[in-house]
Order: sequence, then C-alpha cells, then structure tokens
Amino acid sequence: MNVCVVGTGYVGLVTGAVFADLGNTVICVDADKKKIEGLRRGKMPIYEPGLEEMVTRNAAEGRLHFTTDLRGGVKQSKVIFIAVGTPPKDSGETDLSQVRAVAQEIATAIDSYKIVVNKSTVPVGTGDLVRSIIEANRRVNVDFDVVSNPEFLREGSAIADSLQPDRIVIGAPDRTVAMALLELYAPLEVPMLVTDVQSAEMIKYASNAFLATKISFINMVANVCEKAGANIADVAKGMGYDKRIGREFLNAGLGFGGSCFPKDTISLVHVARKFKEDPGLLEAVLEVNADRVPRLLRRIEGAVRPMKGKTIAVLGLAFKPDTDDLRDAKSLEIIRALMAKGAKIRAYDPIAMELCKRILPKVTYCRSAYEATKGADAAVLVTEWREFRQLDLERLGQGMKRPVLIDGRNVYDPKKARDAGFEYLSIGRR
Ligand code: UDX
Repeated sequence: MNVCVVGTGYVGLVTGAVFADLGNTVICVDADKKKIEGLRRGKMPIYEPGLEEMVTRNAAEGRLHFTTDLRGGVKQSKVIFIAVGTPPKDSGETDLSQVRAVAQEIATAIDSYKIVVNKSTVPVGTGDLVRSIIEANRRVNVDFDVVSNPEFLREGSAIADSLQPDRIVIGAPDRTVAMALLELYAPLEVPMLVTDVQSAEMIKYASNAFLATKISFINMVANVCEKAGANIADVAKGMGYDKRIGREFLNAGLGFGGSCFPKDTISLVHVARKFKEDPGLLEAVLEVNADRVPRLLRRIEGAVRPMKGKTIAVLGLAFKPDTDDLRDAKSLEIIRALMAKGAKIRAYDPIAMELCKRILPKVTYCRSAYEATKGADAAVLVTEWREFRQLDLERLGQGMKRPVLIDGRNVYDPKKARDAGFEYLSIGRR
C-alpha cells in the first residue's frame, strides 16, 4: 500500500519505518528541511535503539522516502497518517495547531479518495475537527474518511512496541474503512479492536492516564511504607501477583516524566472539565507526581545540610533509560533546585549529556558514574540505566567526600549498599 506519514517525530518516524519494513511504500513528510536532509543521509533526529538500521535499510531498498512536500506525499498515497506534535498549552489543554495546519494542507492536496488517520495523541472530538477542516477546505469534491489509530509505543523500545504491540486500535466511521487499515497491520498478527472514532481517541488517553494513576498510586503507598517500615518492592510484588492488578508500572520512584503521561493526564483533566465532569481523581494523580522531586529534595537536604557549597553527583539525566529525551525529566527539576540552593552539580548520563549541556550549561559533565561521584558530598541516582546496576559500589563510595547515596529508582539492594559503606536512602524502603 502507498502510505504517507506526516511528522517525523518519535511516532511518525517509527511508524513510517515499520510500515516500510512490512513492505509498503512510505513517504515521510516533515516541514523541517534540516531534519529531512539529515534523514536522507541516514542521520536520525532522535536516539532510538534499532531505528537507524531500519530506516537506512528500507530507504536503500526504495520503500522509505523523506520529503518536505506534503501535497506530493498526499497525492501519491491512499492512506495519510497525521503524526505531528500535540504539545500542551500553558493551561494544560492540548495545542492542536499543528494538526489543524496539516489537515488544511491535506484538504488542498486531495484529488482522489483518501483515508486520513490521526495517529497523534489528541483529545476526543479531534477526528470530527479534522473531518470538518478537510470538508471546508477541499478544492476537489472527492470523498475521504477520517480514522483514529492511536499509538502506544514507548520511547526506548519503540520498534519492538510497534512490531509486537499489545493491541491495534482502529476507530473508523464504518467497517469498510476499518478493513483498509486492518490490511496494513495484518502482517503483525496481534489483537485488533475496531471502534468508533471517539472511543479510539478515548482509549489512548484513558490508557495513559490509567498507567500514570498506577505510578502515583504506588508512589503514595511508598510514602506510607517509608514511615511504617515496610518495603515497597515487596508490596508491589505481592500486589502484582494478583492478575487483576499486574506487576507492571508499579515501580515506585521519582514519578512519571517524559512526553506523554504528564501531558495526556492533564489533557484528560481538561476534557473532563469541558464535559462538566469531575476530574478529581486525575488531579490527585498529578499532585502526587508533582511532589516526588520536592520530597526527594527534602531528604537530600536532610542528609547533607546545608546545601550551599556542597557537590552533588547526579547519575542519569534522561527521563528514563534507553532514550536521550529530557522532556519533563526529573533530573532537570532536581538539578535546578539543588543549584538554586548553592550546590555544585557533577552529572553523568550514557547518552543524554549532549542535549543537557544546552539546557544546563553550568553543570560539570563527566565521562562515567565514578568520575561524577569523585569528591561529591552525595550522589543521587535519577535514571535507572542498566550500566548503573553493575557499578562497583565500594569504588564509587571511596571516591566520594562523603558516601551518601540517594537511590531515586530503587536500583540497589539496601543491605549491599550499606555494606559497601554508604549512607543509603531509597524510595519506600528502609
Ligand atoms: C508512555 C506509554 O507507556 C506509551 O504506551 C505511550 O505511547 C507513550 O507514553 P513513554 O513515555 O515512552 O511511554 O515511557 P514509559 O516507559 O511508559 O514511562 C513513562 C514514565 O513513567 C517514565 O518517567 C518512567 O520513569 C515512569 N515510570 C514507569 C515509573 O515511575 N514507574 C513505573 O513503574 C513505570
């Protein structure tokens, strides 16, 4: 099938590469000329394991093309995916300006029947909006359909998530339109659910808000465990054996960051308010999340008071492992707060340091965890990169001025960390 994907961010680029890999002819469109030129040379705009290889191979085999010409891409394709950014406005409401602009341009380009698919994460009702924009702006009176096909991929495992998703959700106006999309996904052999457009849009928001709720729930329980002397890791394990609950997304820590959970949860709050429904449950989820870093900072201060003049090592900057993404990363919040209190920061991250240098130039960036902790008064583990799991804790502690380790992701065994000479603090555990 001939497919056009508009937007080469995380979702668009991975979707385009995967459809090409499944044998389709894919045109990826982006308004950013530099990005498109880079992609044509095989330079990825994001770090994602396996992506570069898949893009380069499919481009070389002539199935994957990159262009800034949206109209051309639309004309040559039967299915057009909208995968542009839907960032939050200051109010938390979703900014749909990029989706609107793309819909307008698609409208002026369509000259035969097309299926326009919303893959961007958008509030319920956006399918109708896209439909009305195209209807109002189309130059040729041809038929078209608008479908919602939300994306559930995670950064760091985006390719695997796209090839083996838990489910494919297709929100279509009727069965025939849905079948055309099902055909695209058929080679994956995974569960597929066909719904109306509005339900598909709600599935995406409800899924992300539910996962965010799970994380805030376990973090709230961890707060109680800290005081009660219980161990949150065992509590989560014990809960997770119950199939109705499940073990995943019950890792207590610094809370959720990244480009999806915070913005999608806030957006669902807005959607609920718009329909005059009480979003109190989700507001509480956001409140618990917002207190994760301040709570940790209070504990760091308790251990190394006064902060002024102290050196703190920060291990991990990316919002989670296997990505260089710093959007809503807890590291930025922690570093800014510590610096405001007069602390010096030495930081290390396996891949996010280059990006971080542009945001926080006053931090001393180091080549390893050992170098970052050298002479430090405390070390804070912020991102649970695999390489941190195997650190020689004795060596780490010996290089420090004072061996205080604050483990924001419960990576280490408390006994082992203490046996290695650390004053050790973690989340919801003794
Ligand atoms: C998420 C969804 O998982 C994905 O389905 C959707 O398409 C986009 O949003 P992503 O933001 O890439 O994906 O990362 P994810 O692995 O879900 O983690 C999100 C945040 O939650 C991270 O900050 C992570 O550290 C945090 N988290 C996750 C926890 O604090 N505890 C957990 O148990 C799991």
